[in-house]
Formats: sequence, structure tokens, C-alpha cells
Amino acid sequence: MREPDYPSADAGQWAAVDDYFSSLLAPPDDSRAAVLANNAGAGLPRHDGSALQGKMLALFVAMTRASRVLEIGTLGGYSTIWMARALPEGGRVTTIEADSRHAGVARANFEQAGLTARIDLRVGAALDVLPTLEGPFDLIFIDADKPNNPQYLRWALRLAKPGTVIVGDNVVRGGAVADPESRDPAVQGARAFLEMIARDPGLSGTAIQTVGEKGWDGFAVAVVGPDRADAGTARAPNPG
Ligand code: DHB
Ligand code: MG
Repeated sequence: MREPDYPSADAGQWAAVDDYFSSLLAPPDDSRAAVLANNAGAGLPRHDGSALQGKMLALFVAMTRASRVLEIGTLGGYSTIWMARALPEGGRVTTIEADSRHAGVARANFEQAGLTARIDLRVGAALDVLPTLEGPFDLIFIDADKPNNPQYLRWALRLAKPGTVIVGDNVVRGGAVADPESRDPAVQGARAFLEMIARDPGLSGTAIQTVGEKGWDGFAVAVVGPDRADAGTARAPNPG
């Protein structure tokens, strides 16, 4: 069992259920096992998604019929590989990683998985890279440094189109998200992100708590409505 991000007396049971589900629905293959081993071996933070979360991202790609996917926060590329494998012929994941060492591990993983043609890895701080990208993307997965989530959502909307699905990881943080007094910048980032989704009449969203091998966390998912004013305006001046 991996160390959960948030310790709990129930962590063993949550992991056992994840083991059962993943043995059925997202069984390990040699290639994904190699990615996780490479990431752990390189000493990357243990923030890879679980196999079941990876499968969920792959299903989001299929459900949205996405061919252009944007990921903010590559780490070692485990989620990237799940999404890239789910793309149709000609589809592409653009993924942004701020840490050049993490990006090096991810690049080697993409080569080992035979996926370099489907993955466009951009190395740099996301807030520097995002203004250089051209949308629209069909699916946007936000999974980088959490304090910047509000800015990432702003950029996601400018790189979106009506119908784009935006997914934000790690919005529960062991329950800390419910504390309005929290001084944790990651919690503040998650709360501001959720409040932006809630306030935006052009977005419809929800948030789901999850337990499993990573402990107690969750994700938000939102869809861009038909006439959201700034969807697709990435080249507009002063995007803030
Ligand atoms: C953290 C980041 C992640 O992307 C994740 O999946 C779990 C935890 C973190 O920064 O704490
Ligand atoms: Mg995450």
C-alpha cells in the first residue's frame, strides 16, 4: 500500500477496495507499472493519480470525444499517459511541467510508452506557458501547484470552447477544504477555484469527494456553457 496523502484509521480498507476495483477495471500493465517505478525511483513527490483515477481521466477523454487535451501539472506523466492512450487517432495532450527534473522523468516515460507523438510536453511555469498556447482544448485537467488554481481556471476558460470539460484535482485535501479559516495556501486555492466555478454563470460544476489508496481527497468537474463570454479568447489582450 502506498502512503496515503492524508492519514486515516480507515486507510487500509479504502486501499483494499481500490485494490479490488483496480484489479478488475484498471489492472496494472507493464508500461504503467514501469512509469510508477520510474517516478518513485527518481524521487518525485508521490502525487501520481491512482490507476482508477487514471482510468477515470481516460473515460473523460472518451466521454467528451476529446482530441485536444490540456494538462496543467505533468509530474512524471502518469495521468498524461492514461489520457494519451484514450485519444483518437491524431489526438494530442499538451502537458505543462514547471520542474525540469520532473519533466525529464516524464519525457523518458513518454518515450518508453511509445507516446511521444501524442504528447506535447512544455517545460516552464504554467503561467508563462499558458499564454503561448493556442486553444481550444476539449478537456482541461488542472493538477499543478494548488495555490495558483484560480489563475489556472482563468486561463483554462480562455483556452476553452462551449462544451469544454475542466477537471480540477485535489480539492478536498483530507477535508480541510471545508475550513474557511484555513491558512493553507493549497486549501485557499481550492476554495477560490470552487467559488469561481460556483459564481460563473457560464460554468456548471460539481465536486466529488473520494477515498482510496491516496486517502481522502476529491476532484471538481465543470463544463463550459454555450455562451460563456471569454471562452476561446486566449489571444485577447490583458488576460490577467
Ligand atoms: C498533492 C498534489 C496532488 O496533485 C495530489 O494528487 C495529491 C496531493 C499535494 O500537493 O499535496
Ligand atoms: Mg493531483
